[in-house]
Amino acid sequence: HVNGLDFAVADLSLATAGRHQIRLAEHEMPGLMELRRRFAADQPLRGARVAGSLHMTVQTAVLIETLAALGAQVRWVSCNIFSTQDEAAAAVVVGPTGTVERPAGSPVFAWKGETLAEYWWCTDQLFDFGDGQGPNMLVDDGGDATLLIHKGVEFEAAGAVPQAGEHDHEEYRLILDTLSASLAADGRRFTRIAAGMRGVSEETTNGVGRLYKLAAEGRLLFPAINVNDSVTKSKFDNKYGIRHSLVDGINRATDVMLGGKIVVVCGYGDVGKGAAQSLRGQGARVVVTEIDPICALQAAMDGLQVVLLDDVVAEADLFITTTGGTDIISAEQMGRMKHNAIVGNVGHFDTEIDMAGLARVPGIERIEVKPQVHEWRFPDGHSILVLSEGRLLNLGNATGHPSFVMSNSFANQTLAQIELFTKPDAYENRVYMLPKHLDEEVARLHLDALGARLTTLTKKQAEYLGVDVAGPYKADHYRY
Ligand code: NAI
Repeated sequence: HVNGLDFAVADLSLATAGRHQIRLAEHEMPGLMELRRRFAADQPLRGARVAGSLHMTVQTAVLIETLAALGAQVRWVSCNIFSTQDEAAAAVVVGPTGTVERPAGSPVFAWKGETLAEYWWCTDQLFDFGDGQGPNMLVDDGGDATLLIHKGVEFEAAGAVPQAGEHDHEEYRLILDTLSASLAADGRRFTRIAAGMRGVSEETTNGVGRLYKLAAEGRLLFPAINVNDSVTKSKFDNKYGIRHSLVDGINRATDVMLGGKIVVVCGYGDVGKGAAQSLRGQGARVVVTEIDPICALQAAMDGLQVVLLDDVVAEADLFITTTGGTDIISAEQMGRMKHNAIVGNVGHFDTEIDMAGLARVPGIERIEVKPQVHEWRFPDGHSILVLSEGRLLNLGNATGHPSFVMSNSFANQTLAQIELFTKPDAYENRVYMLPKHLDEEVARLHLDALGARLTTLTKKQAEYLGVDVAGPYKADHYRY
């Protein structure tokens, strides 16, 4: 606690460095800055207590300060143990007008290199806005904050937290510990929070997957907006964002020459397409694995060989998982890779590369080359390099997507927060998308900065197409 603010960051004195980067990012985030201008007078988020669980980067700092500029009280954590930029976290706590001695920004609980226990401790801090108040809005990325509330409500109704089973994952045990402590302190905490929650806006593919599952089971406790599937999110951030940040992460981690190398990209969805494009841009020979015939055909038509991992595992130099799925690269397969093959993941969770299995290989040695870069030496003397311990390498080894693309994602987030907060009666406990005219508006806000001149339909042309001159221009089933 300093100056009435509670927070936990690595080093508050990094705030000046963070503020410089935020200043540069603001210039590259025209969508967010325009929303600040548009809504400055109205203050649509006045009274909103926004809890955010989303990578605490420089770009996220601009989102946090946008939500605050629109009237919200904001608390924040990262949604990954390695993705925080400590200078951004410090700058958000200090705030645009505060000082290190008298911070006046928003509480952040995040630092680069949290343990998993610290991660869940931080997530638990999201829910206390002081004076016994919880959040009434949620920004989530991957759904961990949403999960904690839902599990909390479930256990509070049962009056007890179940014992962890022998085979339960370490992370699930930590969630149970967190909720156990919460239940002991206040048996109605999450029940109250869920009842007062106006909604969640979810950032990523894996997170919206969890939300649709909850909704299908009739267990979703508050309305949700799927930000990921706004066109101006998944067709931009997931694709063009990764096109920038994947190679950035590999380079910062290893400095290995990508040209000429054989790279396997597992998954050819939005993220896989961006990954393949950037690696090819470096001159790498990219091959793809897929389970979906449509995406496999797309890869083939884009000129990429579609292969089985087993068939190339001994020849490839680099392996990148982008599936959002589980068990994509096994420990046995890693054992068959070339000496110093590089293995990394950019899917949201650390479920794609079997790190636990790797650690169990008899006689294997783990050597830290530097933080988030580990050499795993097999008993036969050959090694592989694993980036960010199998977690998102573009955020663990680099700083995530660049500002301009995140301005699109976060303009969607801001509009979703305004929707859910200002129209509490308009949404049921289901998963919604933002309407297409807002999606088009987000894109429109980013054209000027790139010098793009948009053609305006004539009335006759609009009538011919059967659309309005002002949009929306496409039917909902259009796929872009
Ligand atoms: P997507 O659903 O568009 O693509 C995933 C692809 O993987 C699909 O085409 C699917 O058929 C394929 N796939 C699934 N299982 C597979 C398997 N066993 N082998 C080969 N291919 C398989 O999803 P999207 O939007 O590309 O997201 C992928 C992951 O990346 C998600 O976890 C998402 O949350 C995450 N993400 C990460 C970002 C980052 O900055 N690192 C940014 C955006 C999303």
